[in-house]
Amino acid sequence: MDIIDGNRVAADIIAELKAEVATIAGRRPCLALVRVGDDPASVSYVRKKEQTAAEIGVEGRVFLPPVSITQQEIFALIDQLNADPAVDGILVQSPLPAHLDELAVFRRVSPEKDVDGFHTVNLGKVAQEDPTGFVACTPAGIMELLRRSGVDLKGKHVVVLGRSLIVGKPVALLALQKRAGANGTVTVCHSATRDLPAITRLADVLIAAIGRPEFVTAEMVKPGAVVIDVGINRVPDPTRKTGYRLTGDVAFASVAPLCSRITPVPGGVGPMTVAMLMSNTIKARRLRDKS
Ligand code: GUN
Repeated sequence: MDIIDGNRVAADIIAELKAEVATIAGRRPCLALVRVGDDPASVSYVRKKEQTAAEIGVEGRVFLPPVSITQQEIFALIDQLNADPAVDGILVQSPLPAHLDELAVFRRVSPEKDVDGFHTVNLGKVAQEDPTGFVACTPAGIMELLRRSGVDLKGKHVVVLGRSLIVGKPVALLALQKRAGANGTVTVCHSATRDLPAITRLADVLIAAIGRPEFVTAEMVKPGAVVIDVGINRVPDPTRKTGYRLTGDVAFASVAPLCSRITPVPGGVGPMTVAMLMSNTIKARRLRDKS
């Protein structure tokens, strides 16, 4: 069994991107990061994105509107960032507070600056296999991690657990695309799926993205499968200084011995998400040079 080291692969990509940024003439790429409220996971993710941007020479601009911000006010902030010629990419950290319409916010971001890939146009381009758009960072990170680990999905049965806009749906579309590395046979399972273990046991590649700690157990996995764990769940742990530990959607200790390859949590898919965000921001910067 191989543990896929997402930290190492992401570090390789970050080094490549840093070298690429250095070749860009003129203005550095600029990423606007919008975080509403103080959700502890969001605070830590946005900080990581800001740090990585700084490390590779991408300018990060962080916006922290108050949790009381109205829909019209967040629209106004996004409109201002859309119109700002110095801003290449805009990311609004999810989840937003419940009083805000998150999908409407994602759609407000100009598709050319939508480095998160959540806009209708960019998700549509994934469905149409049009590479000119932006692919959502976690799904793109999963595909890149598989590619760089030598896992070719062609003809394989890929089972995706979860149908979210951020991971499940786009990763299913990517795995299905008729191109090198992809070309899988894809099944998407969700909360209404009957006899889930019977389906997950068919998976050559199982992608778990349901946000439930250690949901995938050994009985649900075919021996020899590749398991990609997208979950980042905080579970209470009084033995830790922080009071919590991170665990994935897969019961790692019992599932790992069965697998041919598996991603750990932390240190699997998570660091790839940040690397792909930087890649999208550099792509946005280059595209705006051409326009
Ligand atoms: N929350 C969890 N993952 C993501 C992501 O990739 N982008 C944004 N904006 N929010 C998230």
